[in-house]
Amino acid sequence: MPSRDLHEENRLAWNAATDAHNSHKADQARFFREGGDTLFPEEVELLGDLAGVTLVHLQCNAGQDTLSLARRGATATGVDISDTAIAFARQLSADAGIPATFVRADVYDWLAEAARGGRQFDAAFSSYGALCWLSDIRAWARGVAGILRPGGRLVVVEFHPFAMIFDEQWQHKYPYFGDGKPSTWDEGIGDYVAMAGTALAPSGYVEGVQSFKNPHRSHEWQWGLGDLVTAVLDAGLALTALKEYPYSNGAKQFEGMRELAGKRMVPPDGVPNLPLMYGLVARR
Ligand SMILES: C[S@@+](CC[C@H](N)C(=O)[O-])C[C@H]1O[C@@H](n2cnc3c(N)ncnc32)[C@H](O)[C@@H]1O
Repeated sequence: MPSRDLHEENRLAWNAATDAHNSHKADQARFFREGGDTLFPEEVELLGDLAGVTLVHLQCNAGQDTLSLARRGATATGVDISDTAIAFARQLSADAGIPATFVRADVYDWLAEAARGGRQFDAAFSSYGALCWLSDIRAWARGVAGILRPGGRLVVVEFHPFAMIFDEQWQHKYPYFGDGKPSTWDEGIGDYVAMAGTALAPSGYVEGVQSFKNPHRSHEWQWGLGDLVTAVLDAGLALTALKEYPYSNGAKQFEGMRELAGKRMVPPDGVPNLPLMYGLVARR
């Protein structure tokens, strides 16, 4: 069962964090009007041709990737629990001149509502720090299967759960197996955009909010690769791609990470490689 009370606390934490994150990004509407695109090659490859595709972007945050998907030809709907993120996304869509639909909802509620309404999408997409906010991965996968047309695809690009066992100093501090239980962070969601600098601000980095402290705590769930794949298969989807990558796009989660071309972050020199991201495609 999804833990909606914890999702609500996360909504408050995301509202506060999203304001701080966007305060560091220079004129994003202009970036899009001038042809900007926030997608990385991994999701572009896994999503394939988007011309004429009906797509739902689950947990879209402030909509930058949703607009990039729409720019590539998708009829895009972004869904997110954060009021601030959805308000920002709607304004950005209007200011950038890229039409897309944005809905503020808990993803579980939206999936149930869309299935009740008989809605069928060609593609569902979720990426970069989305799955850790899901309190019930199996219910989520069933919900996604319920809104895909036959042949429709789920595409996930995520930070690798194996890397989540490390603290910032690469010490093995956290368990790999989350057992479906939440981890609660009293400090809530931090200002990781400020920490990443230009890597997460493609429109340009500006000083913005300083010394951000989130007044709301947050709750996350650790889903292993086996949890996700099993949930997807049990939901009746067929796995067609599962890739692991030795770098993470845009996010320097650990001390001493080096930045390669294309904002690919890798471990410091001398540290053996490890999986830092994965991509999954499954079809109904
Ligand atoms: C790290 S962000 C995802 C960023 C995204 N990849 C993008 O395109 O910018 C995680 C998002 O999940 C959303 N979220 C967390 N729990 C949710 C829930 N239960 N239902 C819908 N959205 C949720 C948060 O509001 C936040 O915007």
